[in-house]
Amino acid sequence: MSKKITKAVFPVGGLGTRFLPATKSIPKEMLPVVDKPLIQYAVEEAVAAGIDTLIFITGRNKQAIANHFDKAYELEHELELKQKEERLRTIREIIPAHVDCIYIRQSEALGLGHAVHCAKKVVGNEPFAVLLADDLIDGNSQPCLAQMVEAFEERGNSVIAVEEVDHDKTDQYGIVEVDDAASKCTAIQAIVEKPKPADAPSNLAVVGRYILTPRILQLLETTGKDAGGEIQLTDAISALLSEQPVNAFKFNGVRHDCGSKAGFLRANIEFALQHADLEEQLKESSDKICEALDHQKD
Ligand code: G1P
Repeated sequence: MSKKITKAVFPVGGLGTRFLPATKSIPKEMLPVVDKPLIQYAVEEAVAAGIDTLIFITGRNKQAIANHFDKAYELEHELELKQKEERLRTIREIIPAHVDCIYIRQSEALGLGHAVHCAKKVVGNEPFAVLLADDLIDGNSQPCLAQMVEAFEERGNSVIAVEEVDHDKTDQYGIVEVDDAASKCTAIQAIVEKPKPADAPSNLAVVGRYILTPRILQLLETTGKDAGGEIQLTDAISALLSEQPVNAFKFNGVRHDCGSKAGFLRANIEFALQHADLEEQLKESSDKICEALDHQKD
């Protein structure tokens, strides 16, 4: 098995009902944070980590994602005529020329594990990354997936991004029990999907970045459905744990939960503050807004 990670899977088949009516005809992954869709942030993070094959697991009404990563001849032509060089550059540079996009249709929405399994034939016998675009990670000096690739190259075993969450939120995440909770990268002992706070083995939550060995794709074939009828990636990782070490990795950076309205709005403010032209207009009100969003439940 090669150690190099060149393929990333983006499960983008979900309905995004939390953002209705905005997501009635637009995929939730296309919602913009300032001026870029969520999925583009995830793709840029993958490319920065050395990925050259992007595998999108799509569903109905997700054509906008393929269009976004495709060449837009008419638009480019218009911008060229109007000599809008800067804007032309922003659409031409969405994906570097050496990167390929592959789209696989997930015909039934049977959960994250099922979506990842849909990539099996394309991934083959190589370790690969999974990125959930809902989790937008501002990796400070180094993008999160690049940090994880380094950890993977050192260890050769699966690496899963984790962070501490409030104890009362364990039922929103996969939760891990680890060898050494103080360590940056440590072996996972157990993993459980969305336990109630009273049953959670810790408050270390899985966030949407995984580097997995290909064995997971075989294990997903025999992973049963959960009570909600979904095949969970967490359950297959639990099975993988009995065969191979799997590491929990505490990344450097800030994660924004863009699957929630408060997290999405907060990400917009924080990323806007990184744009010189917007910072000036926003900085006075932004602290108050962020504080209010921190107390918002949705
Ligand atoms: C999925 C995973 C969960 C993980 C989360 C991270 O849940 O099943 O283990 O903690 O992503 O965002 P979802 O948010 O899709 O319900």
